[in-house]
Amino acid sequence: MKKGYFGDFGGQFVPELLMPPLIELERAMDEILYTEDFQNDFKRLLKDNVGRPSALTPCPNLSKDTGVNIWLKREDLNHSGAHKINNTLGQALLARKMGKKVLLTETGAGMNGVAVATAAAMMDMKCLVYMGAKDVERQEPNVRRMEVLGAEIIPVESGTRTLKDAINAALRRWIATQSDTHYCFGTAAGPHPFPLLVRELQAVISEEARQQFLDRTGRLPDAVSACVGGGSNAIGAFHHFVPDESVRLVGVEAAGSGEEGCHNSAPLNLGTEGVLHGMRTRLLQTDEGQILPSHSIAPGLDYPGVGPEHAGLQQSGRAEYVTINDSQALNAFKLLARREGIIPALESSHALAWALENADDLQGQHILVNLSGRGDKDMGIVAGLI
Ligand SMILES: Cc1ncc(COP(=O)(O)O)c(C=O)c1O
Repeated sequence: MKKGYFGDFGGQFVPELLMPPLIELERAMDEILYTEDFQNDFKRLLKDNVGRPSALTPCPNLSKDTGVNIWLKREDLNHSGAHKINNTLGQALLARKMGKKVLLTETGAGMNGVAVATAAAMMDMKCLVYMGAKDVERQEPNVRRMEVLGAEIIPVESGTRTLKDAINAALRRWIATQSDTHYCFGTAAGPHPFPLLVRELQAVISEEARQQFLDRTGRLPDAVSACVGGGSNAIGAFHHFVPDESVRLVGVEAAGSGEEGCHNSAPLNLGTEGVLHGMRTRLLQTDEGQILPSHSIAPGLDYPGVGPEHAGLQQSGRAEYVTINDSQALNAFKLLARREGIIPALESSHALAWALENADDLQGQHILVNLSGRGDKDMGIVAGLI
């Protein structure tokens, strides 16, 4: 496979001025990431500060209701509330070993911003967060958390005022500040080496989950389901199961309202091939290549592109990608809260909804759902809807 590609997808489609920091990062990965020293430091941070390993939780009530054995990998129990912290602590550690002083990032739902702000505080680094102005409004609790953690938030007013625009602005800022700044990319997307770097740091999810599942049940799950925004929690949940051909890998995209032609966040199902944010991938775009506005009730899924490894896994047929709409996700949100006492993020509710909506076909099977984050941040969105 060509370096930086997954099948036909990936690459480095960036202005010349962005090549030096990408080359510097790739070199740091080669020289630092896989050393015993780095891996020991990273594992220690995950244990002492994040609370890993995260639990594997059975859902007895939902399993009784549906006839499907539902298990949750509890990334919502991580310090700062989502899987994002695995990636940001790893990148912050790498950046510090590279001698950088500032962490620059973008955020949609705010969970990545909170995770980078947390890592920056821990590592004594400055933190700058670009966030679409629409997301600043709809994820207010996370904006406050970032401020308390000492981050500077820069609202982005261009375009649809969401994650896509925040990434554009942050990439532009990186061009100007690369000498002392690491761009802590929040998902398994963007130009090489980010999709690979984020995958390597999030793979701790499937490494733990695979072993926990074997220890608890003596077998592997029949399927692993995870929501797909840019794709980091899903690729982390899939990675160590990829060689296990008996395990279905199911990525769940957001179908928006679900009506024909509505705005959605499902480029693997409803998009076409193109280039955005430095990568060749599947995108929501017009025939002329103009990026279309995306939508999901879950802000963290609201992105018109997807990480290239998912496009590659879809192309090879190893993973399948399905859609869940806003009301199906809300139903899963409500059921998990009421039947198991766990309030999931709206993003993660999409992954659970796949198992619930397909219960008839999954009778008696063991389904591992990656619960990527907790729903505290979503109270304003769900108020009056459930
Ligand atoms: C809780 C949660 N899950 C999932 C996502 C989607 O991101 P990714 O596809 O990179 O996991 C987000 C993004 O903000 C999130 O906050």
